[in-house]
Amino acid sequence: MKYKMNTNNQSHKTTICMVIGDPVAHSLSPNMHNAGYKAYGIAEQYTYLAWRIRIEQIPLFLKGVRSVGIRGVSCTVPHKIIVMPYLDKIDPIAKKIGAVNTIVNDNHVLTGYNTDWIGISKPLEAITSIQGKTVALLGAGGAARAAAYAITQSHGKLIILNRTAEKAQSIANDFGGTVAPLDDYETIQKADIIINTTTLGLHPQEHETPIPKKYITKDHIVFDCVYGEKETRLLKEAQEQGARVIHGREMLLHQGTAQFTLYTKRKAPEEIMRKTLL
Ligand SMILES: NC(=O)c1ccc[n+]([C@@H]2O[C@H](COP(=O)([O-])OP(=O)(O)OC[C@H]3O[C@@H](n4cnc5c(N)ncnc54)[C@H](OP(=O)(O)O)[C@@H]3O)[C@@H](O)[C@H]2O)c1
Repeated sequence: MKYKMNTNNQSHKTTICMVIGDPVAHSLSPNMHNAGYKAYGIAEQYTYLAWRIRIEQIPLFLKGVRSVGIRGVSCTVPHKIIVMPYLDKIDPIAKKIGAVNTIVNDNHVLTGYNTDWIGISKPLEAITSIQGKTVALLGAGGAARAAAYAITQSHGKLIILNRTAEKAQSIANDFGGTVAPLDDYETIQKADIIINTTTLGLHPQEHETPIPKKYITKDHIVFDCVYGEKETRLLKEAQEQGARVIHGREMLLHQGTAQFTLYTKRKAPEEIMRKTLL
């Protein structure tokens, strides 16, 4: 196990939260959560670490979380599904989405939540109402399932476009909506909102984009869940076409502020946490 420690004054009274993944060294979550603890003057009571945990370590790791009383565990790739059988309870929304990105330990009882859908819903609702809008959802993995929940909760019209048709159909079966191939660009063009949850744009595919630029118009809202050090090609080209864009870091922020509240039972200091991601 490898971990990244922050420099607060921890003691035996410190409550530990962490993000686990493999890899995890790139994670911005420790900066974001620790900045929130500092903002509230609770950095000696709470600390947030990043731990690299391999898939095969998950059962033993979660036993340890439960027994030593680690308060919160944020799960990133590849752990969002694999942790589920080892938890005591799963929140109904996480069950519906089929993935857990947040584990809360209440007196040795582990409950799994999903806050990724909030990371989709909040930034979108901040600039438009989803209700009645047609949403082209690109991809059909875990992030797409969270997005499908967010969109259908707000009564948007969902079209799921994916390279593997069966996975798109499975989301349509669970959440409603229609399916189309990922390269059905005319269908994407007719949508009001485009959400990319494919890994196109993510290293090592950072030079790729799921939609040729000419299909994006100034009337689109383009939300790219992918984030990296540089702006993705999709968002760069969408801006060049005059579209409104939402960065993947906004998703990271809002799934993180919801976790902050679950771990600390306090409203998250959103602006301070946002600054750490810029
Ligand atoms: N901003 C945030 O806070 C946040 C949170 C969660 C996820 N994300 C990002 O969202 C993305 C998806 O994450 P995930 O957990 O949903 O991953 P996932 O479950 O592995 O799904 C990956 C998706 O990408 C598609 N894909 C992969 N390679 C492709 C290619 N060469 N051409 C076309 N489609 C391709 C897959 O299609 P097939 O079904 O055909 O394989 C699948 O739909 C990642 O970039 C992740 O970093 C961001």
